[in-house]
Amino acid sequence: MLDVNKIRKDFRILDNTKMQGHNLVYFDSAATSLTPDVLIDAMNDYYYNYKSNVHRGDYDLAYQSDTHYEDARKTIASFINANDNEVVFTTGTTQSINLVALGYFANHLHEGDEIILNVAEHASNVLPWLNIKEKTKAKIVYCDLNDKGEVTLENLKKVITDRTRLISVAYVSNVLGAKNDVKKIISYAHKHNILVLVDAAQAIPHIRIDVKDIDADFLAFSAHKMCGPTGVGVLYGKYELLCETESLSFGGGMNVRFEKDSYILKKPPYKFEGGTPAIAEVIGFKRAIEYLSEIGYENIEEYVKELKRYALEKLSKLDNVILYNNNDSSLITFNIKDVFCQDAGSYFNYKGIALRSGHHCAKLLPSYLGCVGTVRASLYFYNTKEEIDVFVDACKHGGEFLDAFFK
Ligand code: ALA
Repeated sequence: MLDVNKIRKDFRILDNTKMQGHNLVYFDSAATSLTPDVLIDAMNDYYYNYKSNVHRGDYDLAYQSDTHYEDARKTIASFINANDNEVVFTTGTTQSINLVALGYFANHLHEGDEIILNVAEHASNVLPWLNIKEKTKAKIVYCDLNDKGEVTLENLKKVITDRTRLISVAYVSNVLGAKNDVKKIISYAHKHNILVLVDAAQAIPHIRIDVKDIDADFLAFSAHKMCGPTGVGVLYGKYELLCETESLSFGGGMNVRFEKDSYILKKPPYKFEGGTPAIAEVIGFKRAIEYLSEIGYENIEEYVKELKRYALEKLSKLDNVILYNNNDSSLITFNIKDVFCQDAGSYFNYKGIALRSGHHCAKLLPSYLGCVGTVRASLYFYNTKEEIDVFVDACKHGGEFLDAFFK
């Protein structure tokens, strides 16, 4: 089991940050996770000791950058059980999904083809497809969620037709934390020649993902939700699909050569990585993966489940809390009775608790839940039961405080 007190020492922000005069309780890891000092050290090492561009220089420092950058790709590939040439560095999940939408599906869909989404998806997995719908005249079809907010094969079967070309689905939803059985979905989809894109942004901080095992066609995630830096993420794609995906960014580093009126591009993943990439961030990303692996995914998963169980047990005794996700995810999604979610967010801030309130970029979901928005506390392995106590106590008094404050 994991030693949380020792772990907390890895994060300087947890040692010295106050909010509204209280010790920070950081319950917003689903928005972005905290960053351990070792990762910042790795990025600083690059800036202090060998800063140089990648794939361009013919001198020792540049070779050093090349080695670190490509080692990061290897580490990440091995982490998700992909081949090195199937890992494309992007700015994050959003760019990864847009790359698939614009680079692959804009050229492979015809009028009347269908893309299956669901109302729990984040904006980054809806808007790129609405854009593609405009461009190709494909149709967007929404699959119903079950009562736990999950996308089930049973419901998918009701909307799959012979025009379905893509199912784009989150592995774990960012509001309810509902976990979808993507392996089962993909296996069925492939039998019907349907491709599947997995938005793994919320899953990968908590679940070990093996892209070969689940057989995903495309899979997108960001570093910053798994203790890594902002501004870098990954698009995994099966190599043959990446070969058929057009680059969206043309420039230095992604071409073999060009003439006055023609060009030859490099093979994936390099053809997608034009311009100087986020070198320090990629190096930091590698360190984040090593750090999480040192702690152990099983330990993280078990510990976060235990925190959630502890929180649910306490929250279930409060009759002013409406809970939307009684599952074992890292998310506690709720409202305080009769309190607007973002007023509640401000109230939690006043108590030193950082969490997210509103629609969480999943703007189709509140009407499914029958509310205008929710408050979301998201947990990670550096949180403690003591912090849950502070949070539950704040929930207990939430409504009362706001009555006094707003009257
Ligand atoms: N996608 C992030 C969230 O759910 C920002 O909060």
